[in-house]
Amino acid sequence: MGLFVCEHPLARHLLTQLRDVNTSPERFRNSARLLSDLLLLEATTDLRIRDIEVQTPLETVRDAALDQGLAVVPVLRAGLSMLESALQLFPDVAVGYIGLERNENTAIAHSYYCKLPKLPGRLTLCLDPMLATGGSAAQAIHVLKANGADQIKMVSVIAAPEGVARLQEAHPEVPIFTAALDRELNDKKYIMPGLGDFGDRLYGTL
Ligand code: PRP
Ligand code: URA
Repeated sequence: MGLFVCEHPLARHLLTQLRDVNTSPERFRNSARLLSDLLLLEATTDLRIRDIEVQTPLETVRDAALDQGLAVVPVLRAGLSMLESALQLFPDVAVGYIGLERNENTAIAHSYYCKLPKLPGRLTLCLDPMLATGGSAAQAIHVLKANGADQIKMVSVIAAPEGVARLQEAHPEVPIFTAALDRELNDKKYIMPGLGDFGDRLYGTL
């Protein structure tokens, strides 16, 4: 499956704000939420709709209503930055949480929390802004599949080539939606040029 990089000028603008080391946590959270709106809209262009009849003030017309179950699963902590956007756009969405944290030395993620809604039959969007080594995303998607998810999309803010390759190898049928494909990982497995530690910048825990 593919890699889709959002080319909207506003996405580029918001991503630049996220990258900027001088952006405050408050502005960082706001830009992340707005950028998530754009990414989630891109990731859901093929949502199923059904025909319904609606009465306008002037006449009756047949138009469309959403007709597909949707679940979003943010990967804690950083994925929470994308949740509010999903809730605003899709008020009926079912929400799950997967808690993963990378070990600072090994960059291997360990799981500390998991609470999921029923996933079979729902489009499941896995939300994690940083796709670095891809270890966290691959692990999260493995958990989603083990819980019956049969249509999954990955939504990230920045992806590294290494993370994309790893995720595509582990879960080739899962498309990846992102705002940027960055250059590479550094020796600490941070994305370059990236934006630093997303969770720390989001919550001011630097
Ligand atoms: C960050 C990020 C991803 C992960 C990506 O989380 O939010 O979950 O790293 O790295 P990977 O692709 O190499 O697995 P982190 O473990 O720092 O936890 P946090 O969100 O709680 O800060
Ligand atoms: N997690 C982050 O928050 N930033 C990176 O660059 C890599 C993983």
